[in-house]
Amino acid sequence: SGPVNIGLLGLGTVGSGVVRLLQQNGALITQKLGRPLKISRVLVRERNRPRQVEVDPALLTTDADGIINDPDIHIIVEVMGGTDAAREYILKAMERGKSVVTANKDLLALYGKELFDAAASNGVDLFFEASVGGGIPIIRPLKECLAGNKIRQVMGIVNGTTNYILTKMSREGRDFQEVLREAQDLGYAEADPAADIEGDDAARKMAILASIAFNTRVTYRDVYREGISRITAQDISYAADLGYVIKLLGIAREDEEGIEVRVHPALLPGNHPLASVNDVFNAIFIEGDAVGEAMFYGRGAGSMPTASAVVGDIIEAARNLNYQTRGRITCTCFYDKPIKPVGT
Ligand code: NAP
Ligand code: HSE
Repeated sequence: SGPVNIGLLGLGTVGSGVVRLLQQNGALITQKLGRPLKISRVLVRERNRPRQVEVDPALLTTDADGIINDPDIHIIVEVMGGTDAAREYILKAMERGKSVVTANKDLLALYGKELFDAAASNGVDLFFEASVGGGIPIIRPLKECLAGNKIRQVMGIVNGTTNYILTKMSREGRDFQEVLREAQDLGYAEADPAADIEGDDAARKMAILASIAFNTRVTYRDVYREGISRITAQDISYAADLGYVIKLLGIAREDEEGIEVRVHPALLPGNHPLASVNDVFNAIFIEGDAVGEAMFYGRGAGSMPTASAVVGDIIEAARNLNYQTRGRITCTCFYDKPIKPVGT
């Protein structure tokens, strides 16, 4: 049968990676899926800007409605970021019967409930593997493979930019601002890097992970957060003298009194497994009553690793389109559980 047509919203770091990966592995993906994946239109803010990837200029548009209302487009891939326009476009696309793939943790950590309800009521998929941990498969393993476990704790390094900065400050004695600029140039940082530095991005990711792990709705506002902007080279050096490293950790736990989710810098002994997670790498430990400890590790940000997760979701959404099994995975029951405030 014919191609699965994709409307791509955004052609920045992640969108370019998606285009590049489909160009690179298109034939292989067609074999796996039985149909080609085709980028039909690409939404951008500025059509004439130089691009990180070769793309037919005729595909670029600034008309979002033209993409969302196009009956030939099957799947919308939202990699533009922000919450207002992205939320509007995703909701409209689902109303028009299109499955959605997004990398947008800001949106999910604020409006997850509304979006998942909309996916379920429209019978479409909403996949978001790239929203946490860049290229690391973590959403589907947690949601599906570990579903039989009572999850006790999720803990890890979930922001690539801050881990890159802390690593370079600690190993090479580099200046905070200089390394931050480097992380921006490498495409790791958010459009406003304060989201990385102040712990907001990690808090959004922990809200998403905690919601899935504990079968409830944790929003970004429920997460205690503290970033790395007050960490100095001297702090890092004192910690090293004592055999410790400083890492920005996300921790989510559930006990009888409720759920606690927090993000803050922490001192880790040098021999702790998370102490050797460096540069842009992320790692997430999950503790379940049956599996024990499971650890997920890989590149937490960047164009191609993130595209890996996005394209995996596109293929899954396309398979569901082929087999008319869309919308099933979003039908998970969530319960309102108490969220414990974390002391400051
Ligand atoms: P980016 O480089 O800033 O790219 C954003 C793209 O979206 C640009 O092409 C921009 O168009 C377009 N865009 C933004 N707002 C738009 C609007 N209102 N209308 C039309 N087009 C619009 O961002 P990114 O790093 O690729 O990140 C995209 C999303 O992925 C974000 O939600 C981010 O949190 C998430 N994410 C990023 C990474 C990463 O490593 N970078 C990893 C995981 C998840 P122009 O090019 O014309 O300006
Ligand atoms: N800015 C994010 C990070 C991108 O550095 O981890 C990946 O979500």
